[in-house]
Amino acid sequence: MSLSFVNTAKYIILDGVDGSGKSSIIRGLQDIFLPVTKTLDDVRKEENFGKYFVYTREPGGTDVGEKLRGLILNEPMFPFSELCLFSAQRLEVRKNIVDPALFAGVNVFSDRSESSSFAYQIRGRNLGHLEDLFWELNRHLAPFPTLYIFLDLDPKVAASRITGRGSDSQGGDRFDRENVEFFGRVRKGFLDFSGKVDSPCKYVDAEQSPEKVFAEVVAHIREHIGLDVATDCGNVIDLHAVKRA
Ligand code: TYD
Repeated sequence: MSLSFVNTAKYIILDGVDGSGKSSIIRGLQDIFLPVTKTLDDVRKEENFGKYFVYTREPGGTDVGEKLRGLILNEPMFPFSELCLFSAQRLEVRKNIVDPALFAGVNVFSDRSESSSFAYQIRGRNLGHLEDLFWELNRHLAPFPTLYIFLDLDPKVAASRITGRGSDSQGGDRFDRENVEFFGRVRKGFLDFSGKVDSPCKYVDAEQSPEKVFAEVVAHIREHIGLDVATDCGNVIDLHAVKRA
């Protein structure tokens, strides 16, 4: 396999503040951008580069990552510890999932990534003094994603949606229980992040109807991976299947 094929596989992130409807969109995407069902070895032999997707998420994605997820989302800890644990689960995802998939020419789609650590920890938790460390750490976790799509949402709307889905002071995780000011810093963090990375960052207004949000996300992905591949992946968009979480 030539290196150019490896380089054509895309690594796409969907990110944004809590309450943006991200989970429903990701479920819908799997009907359009087909999850790989063969082994990566078989895909590599088939030389069907760029046709398939591996879906993963952060925090989580691997056995270690899912264990860390339970810990980070539920146990109170220092913000610096949060940053370290989010970075540790990311390393597991990159080495065990992202790198092998890209090497086999399979696109990777991730629910959140280092853009979240920048927005939630560096900005949300006011860890600005650790920003250099953040970039240094992430350089060691290469590769950087090839496209970021951010679901943008007013922090007040975000907070009311989170409360509406039952994640008030009784339920949800530690992040769901944060206040509007926190989500305001997080939203601004995503904006700052896009000014600091080389890869394209696309914004989608998450206050639009779920159908419009979904269609815009799909359009950005299609444009990024190239129309041929998108058509091969199937072109039926069932907008009614997508509902706000
Ligand atoms: P997620 O599973 O996307 O939660 P939800 O589906 O409820 O939106 O992410 C869990 C939380 O973890 C979310 O509030 C954002 C936070 N997070 C960080 O603070 N830093 C990070 O690096 C990542 C990946 C997530």
